[in-house]
Amino acid sequence: MSTDCRPRGLFITFEGIDGAGKSTHLATLAELLRRQGREVQVTREPGGTALAEKLRACLLHDPMDALTEALLVFAARRDHLLRVIEPALAAGQVVLCDRFTDATFAYQGYGRGFELAVLQTLERWVQGQTDGKLRQPDLTLWFDVAPEQAAQRLSQVRVPDRFEAEPQAFFERVRAGYAARAAAAPARIVRLDAAQSLEDVWTEVLAICRQRGIVA
Ligand code: TYD
Repeated sequence: MSTDCRPRGLFITFEGIDGAGKSTHLATLAELLRRQGREVQVTREPGGTALAEKLRACLLHDPMDALTEALLVFAARRDHLLRVIEPALAAGQVVLCDRFTDATFAYQGYGRGFELAVLQTLERWVQGQTDGKLRQPDLTLWFDVAPEQAAQRLSQVRVPDRFEAEPQAFFERVRAGYAARAAAAPARIVRLDAAQSLEDVWTEVLAICRQRGIVA
């Protein structure tokens, strides 16, 4: 009989348009989980491994078409899954990932208008498991905010990358993409009103995590 009493691995992803404020809450949740005794792997996409970080730099700064973008993010994701995410989940850790495949559907699919069916095929190749199921997050927190407000937040902090420099209409499409994803997977993707103050959004994050037994 198995005597393994490690906690079950948990995969939580953070999504939203640029400037939604997701990364701040990811760091706060990681800290809380660690204080409560969980082992936490904080990571991001594209990125999370040496190879995937190189691909991230290309994606954010080199001109390319939508198919190239899609291939690069899925190549980065494959390496990230094999080297970081799957081993951490197998070891019973909580993986907090800043963006995952919902971002590909939202940005490349809805934002760029690239074929969703091709993205679905790539998703099967990259996230397919031996039991035939797809690796998916256990929970996705979608920080939803209007593009005008997100743009205002971003303009105060940094020089924009290739995505952040896109016009508001692009982010309207990306936002609609997230809304479509959330409607199709309501048990996994939870929308938060990221127009609120940081404190109020955090209160929502906490409530969702408590409700699901993720934090005490
Ligand atoms: P982001 O989380 O915004 O990083 P930072 O907060 O450091 O700017 O992610 C970088 C960008 O990558 C973001 O603009 C969205 C884009 N992206 C895609 O276009 N497709 C994807 O599949 C992923 C994961 C990200």
